[in-house]
Amino acid sequence: MTIRSVVRGVGHYLPERVVENAEFEKTLDTTDEWIRSRTGIERRHFAAEGETTSQLAIKAAQAALDDAGMTADQIDAIVVATSTPDHTFPSVATMVQAGLGSTTGFAYDVQAVCAGFIFALTNANGLILSGQAERVLVIGAETFSRIMDWTDRGTCVLFGDGAGALILEAAEGTGTANDRGILASDLHSDGRYKDLLYVDGGVSTTGTAGHLRMQGNAVFKHAVTKLSETAHAALDKIGLSGENIDWIVPHQANLRIISATAERMQVPMDRVVVTVQDHGNTSAASIPLALSVGKARGQIKEGQIVVTEAIGGGLAWGSVVLRW
Ligand code: UT7
Repeated sequence: MTIRSVVRGVGHYLPERVVENAEFEKTLDTTDEWIRSRTGIERRHFAAEGETTSQLAIKAAQAALDDAGMTADQIDAIVVATSTPDHTFPSVATMVQAGLGSTTGFAYDVQAVCAGFIFALTNANGLILSGQAERVLVIGAETFSRIMDWTDRGTCVLFGDGAGALILEAAEGTGTANDRGILASDLHSDGRYKDLLYVDGGVSTTGTAGHLRMQGNAVFKHAVTKLSETAHAALDKIGLSGENIDWIVPHQANLRIISATAERMQVPMDRVVVTVQDHGNTSAASIPLALSVGKARGQIKEGQIVVTEAIGGGLAWGSVVLRW
């Protein structure tokens, strides 16, 4: 008998404040036209003053629990992917646990920047396959607006805030690609590229949160090759290929990266869930947000093959193949 981690629920939360590209024209040497044509981004949500990553995560988690018809005390583990925690510690995950009113199970954060949700999902799958948890709440939640340099037009127009959540539950499978649930994953990192995308502050350096710095063009080139490679590698592990994919749900950083990756995988854009125009780059939150929006739009349906892939600071990248 094979155990599979099957998706039972999905949900998301976006802060109320929406900022259109045109807003940046007032303070920066940029245009709506440049942002749209170079990135696909049209608007993004920013958290209100005092609104924290854990607050976004709790709302997304509650939406996923409602979708699954479960209560928080039925969850054995909470794994949160974030690079923008409320505090250095405790983890956002323990704040979510408390916020949901749960005293059962265990909770912790993982940090792999924009690839964080891929790593968290793989980690949660490991908890289920090793028998340590039956039901895991996996969340990606970020407030990247807190680490923007608002004078840097090369970065501050790209990011947004938000949270998405998924509930995985152990179920019996046959061990084939016909099973529902997580079928394969593929993870990578290469710390030689740490200076391409980083934050120039932190606990043991400046003692401040710092600001995001990125060599966008270099990251772009890595993304275009590495994302299709990792997606193909994950598909290979379970004996699937591009034509078996119902949906690619990519990290939403740049529409040009999303379409170049789809092209390399020979998957047409009408089988790609795209939310970057409305959310911008929400780092670890982008994939669960897109999964939730994709389901709500009626795109992603039970039984379909979904491929998720992401790359970010580290560099760290990877992909997960699942049957929804
Ligand atoms: O999620 C984590 C992973 N991150 C990513 O995947 C991001 C990957 N990178 C990208 O998405 C793109 O590289 C960017 C959107 C960041 C930049 O697009 P690009 O086509 O690579 O532009 P570039 O950095 O090569 O810059 C081209 C020009 C430069 O001007 P010069 O030097 O040619 O005169 C920039 O200064 O565009 C300029 N530029 C802007 N112009 C107007 C950069 N940002 C802006 C802006 N408005 N906001």
